[in-house]
Amino acid sequence: MKMEAGEFKELVRRTRSIRRFRGNEPVASGVLRELVDCARLVPSSANLQPLRYVICNRPDKGEEIFACLKWAGYLTDWPGPAPGERPVAYIVIVADSVIASQPWCDCGIAAQTIALYAASQGLGTCMLGALDRDRLRGILGLEKRYEILLVLALGRPAEQAVLAEVDQEHGIRYWRDTQGIHHVPKRSLSEVILKEFAAS
Ligand SMILES: Cc1cc2nc3c(=O)[nH]c(=O)nc-3n(C[C@H](O)[C@H](O)[C@H](O)COP(=O)(O)O)c2cc1C
Repeated sequence: MKMEAGEFKELVRRTRSIRRFRGNEPVASGVLRELVDCARLVPSSANLQPLRYVICNRPDKGEEIFACLKWAGYLTDWPGPAPGERPVAYIVIVADSVIASQPWCDCGIAAQTIALYAASQGLGTCMLGALDRDRLRGILGLEKRYEILLVLALGRPAEQAVLAEVDQEHGIRYWRDTQGIHHVPKRSLSEVILKEFAAS
């Protein structure tokens, strides 16, 4: 299968963290299951596949999960999404510690795969690692063997998030303009390629 390079890159460009959602547009359980079905196919260290997923689109449980999350540390005057613009679904990525003890790389691969697939379907996601894990464990009723790694919040986007260049004013800190557009500075290609051993 060959895909247009530009098409894939555009998907990557569009797959930004979204933190405000259309609170009245639910995401069906079948969609969440499909996203996890995609994530289970990705590479895994030693192919151990220690990741497990808790999926939720039930509003009352969603509210409880929401209470465990910390939003947008750089937007210091924004307390997080208001009622009506909160995520409508969640995928919580956990690791079975009996299977593997260093699952973070697997988790990143799975999380971004879900984010890309979701974006391709017009859904917005935000990965959240700043969590009250003890509280969340209780809410989800998780056994001790499962380590909570990351929460993915999902819904139809109610905000625009765009890429920006790292500049003097903002550095790498994301920021929101007066129209409410969220800007995400990314380091330049020349900054991130540390060395280049190029064929002549
Ligand atoms: C491992 C990880 C943990 C993150 N945790 C949080 C979080 O707790 N709260 C939040 O609002 N955003 C969180 N984010 C989102 C980042 O802030 C976001 O990726 C970054 O600002 C760049 O924006 P972009 O995703 O649009 O490129 C997390 C992202 C990653 C990869």
